[in-house]
Amino acid sequence: MKTSLSKLTASQRTESFGTSIFTEISALAHQYNAVNLGQGFPDFDGPIEIKRIAMEAIASGRNQYAAMSGENGFKKAIARHSSRFYQHDIDPSSQITVMSGATEALFSTILAFINPGDEVIVFEPCYDSYVPAITIAGGIPVPVTLHEPLYRFNPVELKAAFSEKTKAILINTPHNPSGTVLNRSELGFISDLCNEFDVLAIVDEVYEHLVFDNHIHVQLRSMPDMENRTITISSIGKTFSFTGWKLGWAISSEALQKPIRNVHQFNVFSSITPMQYAAAAALDLPDEYYSQLKQDYRKKRDYLSSILSHAGLYPIVSEGTYFMMADTVDFSFAHTNDFAKWLIKTCGIACIPPGSFYLRPERASTYVRFCFCKKYSTLETAAERFLTIKNYI
Ligand SMILES: Cc1ncc(COP(=O)(O)O)c(C=O)c1O
Repeated sequence: MKTSLSKLTASQRTESFGTSIFTEISALAHQYNAVNLGQGFPDFDGPIEIKRIAMEAIASGRNQYAAMSGENGFKKAIARHSSRFYQHDIDPSSQITVMSGATEALFSTILAFINPGDEVIVFEPCYDSYVPAITIAGGIPVPVTLHEPLYRFNPVELKAAFSEKTKAILINTPHNPSGTVLNRSELGFISDLCNEFDVLAIVDEVYEHLVFDNHIHVQLRSMPDMENRTITISSIGKTFSFTGWKLGWAISSEALQKPIRNVHQFNVFSSITPMQYAAAAALDLPDEYYSQLKQDYRKKRDYLSSILSHAGLYPIVSEGTYFMMADTVDFSFAHTNDFAKWLIKTCGIACIPPGSFYLRPERASTYVRFCFCKKYSTLETAAERFLTIKNYI
C-alpha cells in the first residue's frame, strides 16, 4: 500500500483553530510563579456540604449512566431555581436538558439549530468557544462590538447586523470579559429585533448570580414574546465554585428542546451522574448562600479595583461576573499581549490580553482582563507585587 500522509490533515472545519494566547500566558505564569489573576477559576472550593453530597453519591452507587436529559432530581432542582429567582415556572421533564457544562450546552444548541450559511450575531469580545462552535456548524459569525470603556453595544450597529439570513443571536449577560450586565432596555431592544427578524436567542447566563450594586440580572426569555425563541444556558461552575464539575443545562420551550437533545444524545449522551445529586442540593441552598456569594465577590471586586487603581491601571468597575477590565494605556506597549508577558516577568502577576475574545482583534485596544475569584491572600500577594509597577510608567 502507498504510504502517504496527505489525508492526515485537520478537517476544514477546524483548521482555523489555533492555540490561544491563554496557553502561552499560563505557561509563562507557571514559569515565573506568577499570581494568576488571568484564568477565570476560583482558587478555593465551593461549600463543604455539597462536596460531601457528591462523595456520598459516589459511595452509595450513583455511578452509572444518568438519564440522557438529566437525572429527574436535578432537573426538578433547576426548575425550582427558575421559579425561585425568576418567577418562571418550567416543566422539568420537557424543558430542561442537563449538559456537561455550559460549553457543551452552547455547542449542542448551536449544532442543533445552525445550518451552513446561517448568520449568527455575536457580540465581541466574547467567550472563546462561541465562534468555533458557530464555525463547526458551518454558520457565519456576524460580530457586533461592545464599545470600550463601558463595553456596551451601539443600537444602530446591532440593528444593522440583523438580516433575513440571521438565524440566531448569542448573548452573554453578565458578560465575560467585560463585567457588563445588560439592562432591561438593552434586552428590550434585542428582543424587539429577535421578534422582527424571527431570530433565535441563545443566552449564556453562567454568571447569573454574580451581579453587584444596583444591577440585576434580567432573563431575556422574560421579555415579551421571547419565551418560545430563547434558549437559556447556565451551569453550576461559577455560582458554587466548582468549575471542574462541568455540569450545566439548557432551558427552552419543549419544541426547542428536541433538536438540542438530539445533538446531546450522540455527542455526550448523558452528564456525570453523582455530581447531579450534589448540584441539585447546591441549587437548593438557602437564599443566604446566594446573597453571601454576591457580597463576598463585591468586596473582592472593590479590593481588586483599588489595587489596580493604585498600580496606575484604570479599572472599569464590573457590574457582574468575577472579571474586571483595566486600561494599560499609561504603560505604552504596542500590544496588550506584550503588556501581559511583561507583567508576569516584571511583577509576577498574570492577566489576560483580550485579543482572542475578538473576531476582529484590532478592535481590542489597551484593556486587559483581571479576575477576582481568588482568596484574599492571593489578592494581597498581588497587591504587594503591584507596588513596584509604578516605577515603569
Ligand atoms: C461566558 C462563559 N460561558 C461559559 C463558560 C463555561 O462554562 P462551563 O464551565 O459550565 O462549561 C465560561 C467559563 O469561563 C464563561 O466565561
